[in-house]
Formats: sequence, structure tokens, C-alpha cells
Amino acid sequence: MITQDRMKVTGQREIANNIFEMKLSGKLVGEIACPGQFVHIRVSDSFEPLLRRPISIASIDNEANEMTIIYRAEGRGTTLLSLKKEGDEVDVLGPLGNGFPVEETSPGETALLIGGGIGVPPLYELSKQLTAKGVTCIHILGFQTADVSFYEEEFMRLGETFIATVDGSKGTPGFVTNVMETIGNNFATYYCCGPMPMLNAVQTAYTDKKGFLSFEQRMGCGIGACFACVCKTTEKADQEYVKVCSDGPVFPAGVVSI
Ligand code: FES
Repeated sequence: MITQDRMKVTGQREIANNIFEMKLSGKLVGEIACPGQFVHIRVSDSFEPLLRRPISIASIDNEANEMTIIYRAEGRGTTLLSLKKEGDEVDVLGPLGNGFPVEETSPGETALLIGGGIGVPPLYELSKQLTAKGVTCIHILGFQTADVSFYEEEFMRLGETFIATVDGSKGTPGFVTNVMETIGNNFATYYCCGPMPMLNAVQTAYTDKKGFLSFEQRMGCGIGACFACVCKTTEKADQEYVKVCSDGPVFPAGVVSI
């Protein structure tokens, strides 16, 4: 159930250049149904900036009633968020969206998880849940440069992990597609989150595989009411348009027109 919660900041640290990991606790955590869902955060009680910021959920700890979000401080809203300290409260709406279908990969199968930049965080909880049910996970994480890369060790603890950086400062030089060319097709399912050109390159490379793409889209309301996040679909869909916030952000590959 979508909940509005004043969540308590239980941790905040910069894990890469301008990339922050924040831990939040509150009753909303118990409502999160699956990895890939996101929250909509109002960063200031003064209503300035007015709009909430959509941020994906990187990790869920139900026992501690705590979730982790990872975000890039780039505009006024997320920069204000990065100044929050332990003990502060933030107004959080969520969980929103549909999330990744963990059930589409069976125990004993292999899943390929591909993330780019700030699209990497939701894959972490996804990988935790897939590995917990006996799925082998292979991760390909793409970043612009080494100094904005993060969570390599966390992913390595869950499975084989490859890094690509556009400037070649870490891992394979280039894009996630450069790594994809080297690892073969020995997986059952792929899950991908990142910028549109990356989603397109991945689904084009794996037309014969079952895949799920999580879209990053500008958002207004986050709950399906304002149409700010509408995307056109392909002939594979049974409706002409979808709202990324409420119909997605995760769609089967080939359904949203890229
Ligand atoms: Fe308002 Fe999606 S953000 S409908």
C-alpha cells in the first residue's frame, strides 16, 4: 500500500563523487513488495523545491525496518537531501511502481543484471533476492568514470561482477555493451536499469532472451495522476501509452518504444 511516512535518517555517507547512500527507517519499509520499486521524497518542509524527487530503493532490511537509497546530488532537491543528518526526518511517499519480477527466474538458473550510473542501485536488492532463492547472478555495472562508481564490492559478494567505465579509468573501457560482448549468452533472464540508450542497446542485443527494463523518466506526481512520465508503447503492448511511475518503472523488453 502506498504510504506517506516521515522517515528518520539513520545514516548518510558519500560513497562516490557526489553519490550518496542514505538509510531511512519507518513503517513504509514494511510496505515494499519487490526490488525496483521507488520512493518519492520531499526534501524540504518549506515546499521549496516543490516537487518530490523519485529515488529508487537500493536495499531493504525488514528486520531493522530500514531501507537504503542511493542518489546523485545534482540539482537543488538532491543537494538539499545530501545535507540531511542522522536523526533528521524526511517526508517519503511510497513504495511506488511495480518493480522487477523476481519470480521470472527460477532457482538454479542464471540472471544477468545490467545497470548504468544511478540505474545501478535497484539491482542490488534485486540481486540479493535472486541469490537468496538460488539464482546465480552476473552483474555488469557501467559508470562514466571510476570516481563515480560504487557498490562494486557489495555486488561481488553476491556474484560475478564486471565494471565498465566510459573513460576507461576502471574495468572495461567503454559501455556495458563492451562487457556483454565478452560474456556470452549463458543466462535465462536479464534485468536492466539505466539511461534510455543503454536500455535500447541491451534489448537489441538480447532479442532472444526474456528481459525486463526499468525506465528512468522525469516525474511529477509519481502516482499516475499528472501524465508527466508518459511513454509510447510498441505494437507488443495492449495500450498505446504507459505511465512509467504507475504502470512501470519496469516493463518487459520490447513493450515501451525507445
Ligand atoms: Fe505523474 Fe507519472 S509522474 S503520472
